[in-house]
Amino acid sequence: FLVDKGNHRHFMEKEIHEQPETISHTLSHYLDFTEGRARREALPFDFAKLDRIAISACGTAYLAGLVSKYWFERYARLPVDIDIASEFRYREMPMPKASAAFFVSQSGETADTLASLRYCRSQGIPIGAIVNVQESTIAREADGIFPTLAGPEIGVASTKAFTSQLSVLAALAVRAGSERGTISAEDEKRMVRELSEAPRYVRQALKLEEQIEKVARKLSQFRHVLYLGRDTSYPLAMEGALKLKEISYIHAEGYAAGELKHGPIALIDRDMPVIVIAPHDRIYDKTVSNMQEVAARGGKIILITDQEGARRSSIDTFETIIMPDVPEIIAPIVYALPIQMLAYFTAVFMGTDVDQPRNLAKSVTVE
Ligand code: G6P
Repeated sequence: FLVDKGNHRHFMEKEIHEQPETISHTLSHYLDFTEGRARREALPFDFAKLDRIAISACGTAYLAGLVSKYWFERYARLPVDIDIASEFRYREMPMPKASAAFFVSQSGETADTLASLRYCRSQGIPIGAIVNVQESTIAREADGIFPTLAGPEIGVASTKAFTSQLSVLAALAVRAGSERGTISAEDEKRMVRELSEAPRYVRQALKLEEQIEKVARKLSQFRHVLYLGRDTSYPLAMEGALKLKEISYIHAEGYAAGELKHGPIALIDRDMPVIVIAPHDRIYDKTVSNMQEVAARGGKIILITDQEGARRSSIDTFETIIMPDVPEIIAPIVYALPIQMLAYFTAVFMGTDVDQPRNLAKSVTVE
């Protein structure tokens, strides 16, 4: 069917704006909001009997998988072994019987991800495919398909597919927790309710567009950018850096905030903007001390946090973007928005081809 840009300048902008709907659509497929439970559709494995899961993917899909490692381990006490597919496929990872593997892919055609899937197949463990294209090769070769239901994504830099991947993975982590008895029925109810509120918060985050555009104008003056985050904000920091370099061609790196002192701190000076993704969560104060280290060296901090986070930090920032206060489980979904918008507007200021960045392909079917 016909896919057009509507009133938007680029597909990427349109796809960013579709997220309240795509997330809501995806979540309602996996969660029963009325009952406050994760739906129990048949699975090719039993979460309660698994000792671990392996996840493999490329690019943005890999980073969605990395966020889910925190969720599966924290809420379901299920160890996750995750790797980028080009490494995974050659690693000869041992696969104990009580394992299952998940492959995350928008296109369902990425060569390295498919090769990882075939490796797991040869090891005889059950395979789940989290894909946006349900007729894809990865979907066909899996034992269970978990559609992301984001609709066709045209922009090469993934946006709505990413938040839908996160939505599926969050729902699966809640289900896993419930079936493994690591979260109570009450916890499950609360988490399902919190997830159901994600689209509303995403809509609020979209309202920050004007402010983010102004920040992006400043960002486009720099040649290097560092992103920092802890916990689930760490993969998001990497996703922010990935988006920025993909479409604006500004060199960017995403680091775990605690790793700052082991290298990147050497780069900090007045010409280094440092984007800190830090909802006021369980380890917020640790991130604040990393920001102090940056501030002491003249680094320009762009802090993405919430009201409480801004109140508690008392650090002189270059810019502060105040997000709605969100429950822990949906923070990665909601905080994906400002980093997508930041990359988008920076690329627009740089005058690059936002939807078709140089040297990149939407689907990489060769090794
Ligand atoms: C390409 C795209 C990325 C995407 C990655 C994985 O590099 O440019 O946006 O994240 O492939 O693609 P997949 O279709 O497997 O999610």
